[in-house]
Amino acid sequence: MPLGSELSASAVAHPNIAFIKYWGDRDSALHLPANGSISMNLGDLATRTRVVFDSSMRSDELFLNGVLQSGAAVERVRRFLDIVRSLAGQFICARVESENNFPAGAGLASSASAYAALALAASHALGLRLSEIELSRLARRGSGSACRSVPGGFVEWQAGSNDLDCYAFCIAPPKHWALVDCIVLLDTAQKEVGSLQGHVLAATSPLQAARLADAPRRLELCRQAVLSRDFTSLAEIIELDSHLMHAVMMTSAPSLLYWQPATLQVMKSVIGWRRDGLPVCYTIDAGANVHVICEADNAAQVRKLLGALEGVVDVLCSSVGGAVRLVE
Ligand code: PMV
Repeated sequence: MPLGSELSASAVAHPNIAFIKYWGDRDSALHLPANGSISMNLGDLATRTRVVFDSSMRSDELFLNGVLQSGAAVERVRRFLDIVRSLAGQFICARVESENNFPAGAGLASSASAYAALALAASHALGLRLSEIELSRLARRGSGSACRSVPGGFVEWQAGSNDLDCYAFCIAPPKHWALVDCIVLLDTAQKEVGSLQGHVLAATSPLQAARLADAPRRLELCRQAVLSRDFTSLAEIIELDSHLMHAVMMTSAPSLLYWQPATLQVMKSVIGWRRDGLPVCYTIDAGANVHVICEADNAAQVRKLLGALEGVVDVLCSSVGGAVRLVE
């Protein structure tokens, strides 16, 4: 490639919310998970990433929402680009420009949409034409849950036995079930322990083995609840799975306690509303914010109820999203 020439592509991906969680790795370098997981893509939230490979550049650059980044974030992107460069056999530095339409660091799994979009944009720019499975495997190397943002709709990530069979696939398209995730943003200033570190700590909890042993049963119940659009069963299994993951977090060494008083307040309120007949349930990732899941018909009411709770800063609602895609 002549000096000064450029290869570029842009892609859009959605973050996802896990119904059955990934927590703990079998292989932390390859991000081979300790258990399979199931998620839903969040179509109203998106990361848009442009990658320009430029033969005149001497090092990779990363811009997040227009701001040049340094340190660990760039290092992680550089290591990921190294994988794409070796796959393509082209060793050119890149400028990565990534924009989220949702607040970063709000516990919204921005690394999932970020690495799904980066995997597609970077591989395409370097001339690779990867299948969905290959792209999912590649995105997984950036961030485990990113492999679930490659296919659209409701997605299962099979744990597999090695790098080749560890990828995510669609179990039902976005239109299959009009679910909504009402993401409750709480007032939390403190920086949480990130998931990369958390996956390593999972094995220190005496509860992780029990959580893993029961994972195939929960995956099956969740898969069936999604396929048959059975909200009552979905509510039961996703709250159980979230509680199990947080029990592991709380009992790891050191202990990870992500909940704030307002987190518990939202959980208790959701349980009360459900008892009163409103089909609604919750799941929580590695942070204090709560993802409240309901069907589209009830979303306006749920959003209003959530907005009236103490400590709630904002509620972002998202319907089911599609697959990662190239854009102009
Ligand atoms: O892909 P990571 O390393 O950001 O891990 C995701 C961890 C959870 O969000 C807590 C669970 C999940 O399956 O998304």
